[in-house]
Amino acid sequence: MVLSHHPDFEQLTIVEHPLVQHKLSLLRDKVTSKKLFRELVNEITLLLVYEASKDLPLTTKTIETPLETFQAPVLRDDSPVIVPILRAGLGMVDGFLRLLPDASVGHIGLYRDETSFEPQQYYFKIPKQSEDRQYFICDPMLATGGSATKAVTLLKRQKIHKIIFVCIVAAPKGIDEFTKAHPELPIYTASLDRELNDKKYILPGLGDAGDRLFGTL
Ligand code: PRP
Ligand code: URA
Repeated sequence: MVLSHHPDFEQLTIVEHPLVQHKLSLLRDKVTSKKLFRELVNEITLLLVYEASKDLPLTTKTIETPLETFQAPVLRDDSPVIVPILRAGLGMVDGFLRLLPDASVGHIGLYRDETSFEPQQYYFKIPKQSEDRQYFICDPMLATGGSATKAVTLLKRQKIHKIIFVCIVAAPKGIDEFTKAHPELPIYTASLDRELNDKKYILPGLGDAGDRLFGTL
């Protein structure tokens, strides 16, 4: 994979693979249909997860190949937890499950207040007794960083600390806010975009990810 680490943000990995960048450009295009938009979000997510899961610990298991007994490497825990931030994070879940089919899925419901842009919580449900599992929070957009930062804070209140954040488009402001609040946590994205506009939308961005996924424009 082609990766880059931003000099200002040590924990940020930008997945610069040409397939990711090509698919992201299709995603940004305003003429892209809902159907294609959903497919692209899933495909990009799968490619991001391939990288974001690269440090999952392995163990070995005895298997019989057709020729001999073999100590085969397998994931130590093949059931991590995927936590989409509702709504738009839901669009990324299938991409995760393609690579981690036995993962559990928790949900955090947050929406941005239209005037303050602060995240408002309306739902929280995660698997029980799961402090030791790897958690992946996903949301296509990291804009001001308020939603992602709050989602992590909610998990940390449940004593969950093994968290990786995966998004598709990030703004510098969002990365800055997130890393100030949670400096130890890795972030994976397909792009670090230029800036936010006065409505806190990412530029160039891709518009409102939830509306484009669910046809609520
Ligand atoms: C969008 C997006 C993130 C959030 C990012 O969700 O999916 O959750 O905004 O912005 P932030 O970094 O400034 O917090 P939105 O609140 O529009 O809700 P939706 O997914 O239900 O459309
Ligand atoms: N939420 C979105 O869906 N898009 C943005 O650009 C910012 C927040």
